[in-house]
Amino acid sequence: MNLVMIGTGYVGLTTGVGFATLGHQVVCVDIDAAKIARLDLGEVPFYEPGLQEALTHVQEKGRILFTTDLKSVIGGAEVIMIAVGTPPKSTGEADLTALFAVADQIGSLLDHEVVIAVKSTVPVGTNRKVIAHIREAMEKAQRAELTSLINIVSVPEFLREGSAFEDFLQPDRLVIGSDDKLAGQTVERLHKEMMAPRVMTTLESAELIKYAANAFLATKISFINEIANLADRVGADVRHVAEGIGHDHRIGPHFLKAGVGYGGSCFPKDVSALEQISGANGYSFKLLSAVIEVNNRQREMFFKRMMEKLGGVKGRRVAVWGLAFKAHTDDIRESAGIEIAQRLLAAGADLVVYDPQAMDNAKAVLSHHVEFAVTAMDAATGADVLVVLTEWPEFREVSFSTLHDRMIEPTIFDGRNHLADLNLQSQGFVYHGVGLGTYDAA
Ligand SMILES: NC(=O)c1ccc[n+]([C@@H]2O[C@H](COP(=O)([O-])OP(=O)(O)OC[C@H]3O[C@@H](n4cnc5c(N)ncnc54)[C@H](O)[C@@H]3O)[C@@H](O)[C@H]2O)c1
Repeated sequence: MNLVMIGTGYVGLTTGVGFATLGHQVVCVDIDAAKIARLDLGEVPFYEPGLQEALTHVQEKGRILFTTDLKSVIGGAEVIMIAVGTPPKSTGEADLTALFAVADQIGSLLDHEVVIAVKSTVPVGTNRKVIAHIREAMEKAQRAELTSLINIVSVPEFLREGSAFEDFLQPDRLVIGSDDKLAGQTVERLHKEMMAPRVMTTLESAELIKYAANAFLATKISFINEIANLADRVGADVRHVAEGIGHDHRIGPHFLKAGVGYGGSCFPKDVSALEQISGANGYSFKLLSAVIEVNNRQREMFFKRMMEKLGGVKGRRVAVWGLAFKAHTDDIRESAGIEIAQRLLAAGADLVVYDPQAMDNAKAVLSHHVEFAVTAMDAATGADVLVVLTEWPEFREVSFSTLHDRMIEPTIFDGRNHLADLNLQSQGFVYHGVGLGTYDAA
């Protein structure tokens, strides 16, 4: 099938390359000319495992093209998929400016039958507004008679950064929401190689499924963080508690890792957007408000505990390992690493940071007073304290005896319990994790 994908971010590019891998003919469109120029040269502009190889493959096969000019490619589209960003406004509400701009542009250009598939995460009711924008723009362009040929399908995406390409090819399920059966079937045909169960539903249900999925996962994280805080106070180990409950198939083992809480481009914004949607519909979603509060408090508590234990960090050399919001990505949106680095700096720390992939993104947001190290060991050399905030595998692979010798005071605060099983205390480190039963507030 011929697919035009609008937006080449983490989702749009991954799914565009994914559909080309499945044999479709894909044109990816973005307003970011520099990004399109790099993609045209075969270069993935962000870090996502496996995506570079997949892009090279589909480019060699001639199945994918990149352009900034929607007008020149829209004519051939059977499906137009929209994957532009829907970032949070300061109110928590999703900002739909880019989405509606794309809808207006599509409407002003369309002159043939097409299915519009919205992949961006959007509040309930948005797909209906998108199709209304498109039809209105078609009317303005004197093509009112064609509006009935344009239908919309909500096809939310559930991939995870860090394993996005794999997740796209092997999803747990496909959610396809539409009022129009044929349009839904067209979008299903795009996915026909995928074995996953299908949930064929309405626009509103598809929109709500996406938010409900992320809100549920965020709830699991806040839940285990509450258990962690209690574990610390009663001398229990949250890792064992998580294992003990995770074997219960009704609970499951995933998203039960205690730490400094969730971050990233999706959970914080989607959970806040769902809370906002609830409020706008006259419903107070109490559980969700608590999930957000617990998550914010988690970072707060981690930082406060560090300050209490260290007696402040003014003038002390502090190393941070991990700036990406999680391992295997360079994405720093709503990252605990960035936030805690900024707090440490504000508290007067002499700060040195390291991340295997997110350094360029971090340099764009962190103060020039921060030192950017070339390796994890370089960052920790001469440090009074090391703070671990992303669970990159390479942090477990350093020589801890060398690390011990190179640090001024071998003290580690681990916001992910990433090194908790390495028994660092026996190697002379002072080690603090989250929920390991060792809380003794100053
Ligand atoms: N990142 C994830 O893990 C993830 C997972 C599932 C769903 N989502 C959702 O998918 C959507 C996209 O997320 P993302 O992380 O890929 O965003 P992103 O910020 O990485 O990418 C968005 C892209 O859209 C482009 N764009 C903006 N306005 C445009 C326009 N008018 N025309 C063409 N291109 C335009 C931007 O230049 C950018 O390249 C969001 O709604 C997000 O909530 C994201």
